[in-house]
Amino acid sequence: MASTALSPSAPSQLCSSKSGIFSPTHAAFAKTARTPKVINHRSMRITCQASSVPADDRVPDMGKRQLMNLLLLGAISLPTGFMLVPYTAFFVPPGTGGAGGGTVAKDAVGNDVIAAQWLKTHGPGDRTLTQGLKGDPTYLVVEKDRTLATYGINAVCTHLGCVVPWNAAENKFICPCHGSQYNDQGRVVRGPAPLSLALAHADVEVDTGKVVFVPWVETDFRTGDAPWWA
Ligand code: FES
Repeated sequence: MASTALSPSAPSQLCSSKSGIFSPTHAAFAKTARTPKVINHRSMRITCQASSVPADDRVPDMGKRQLMNLLLLGAISLPTGFMLVPYTAFFVPPGTGGAGGGTVAKDAVGNDVIAAQWLKTHGPGDRTLTQGLKGDPTYLVVEKDRTLATYGINAVCTHLGCVVPWNAAENKFICPCHGSQYNDQGRVVRGPAPLSLALAHADVEVDTGKVVFVPWVETDFRTGDAPWWA
């Protein structure tokens, strides 16, 4: 049996059947219908009639489609962008606030440590905790000549992570948790701690006089080994 496809330029042909099924095969039977017509095909009853709706009115033109696509894109991308910015910022480390990628040392109340002021109140041999790299408690060391040491000592015990206090009477750092001991430069002298305390450079900003901790990636001057923390 011959069949002809429906032309988009021709008036549309709307078909219905009792079975509720419509297919191109069924449409082929009714391609020439211009008036209501009933076709008996086996047990199926199909009624087709011409529609006066032009094909151009049923399909949006390309300009409208592009406009709708742009509106849809904007509606999706704007809120997505607003959500992505804080989400991405969550994974970006906070600004270090120091020169050369370092971290400005903070005192016990959160103020920036100014070297000159610090030395007025901290005498030779002093080791006082400040807030260092990544927020770790870090000792600022005052040398015997009343200058700041060029290194800070991370106070986190290398055994199980307790903060190790400075014991001025013993001239050592002694961990209260399991008794590990470190000398006045943080080198381990008694276990169970397996490693010396980590180091950080303690620099002084020329223009502000602030103390800035910078990661120590060079050889550990206390042991001659590569820094285990770097
Ligand atoms: S945590 Fe310091 S000795 Fe165990």
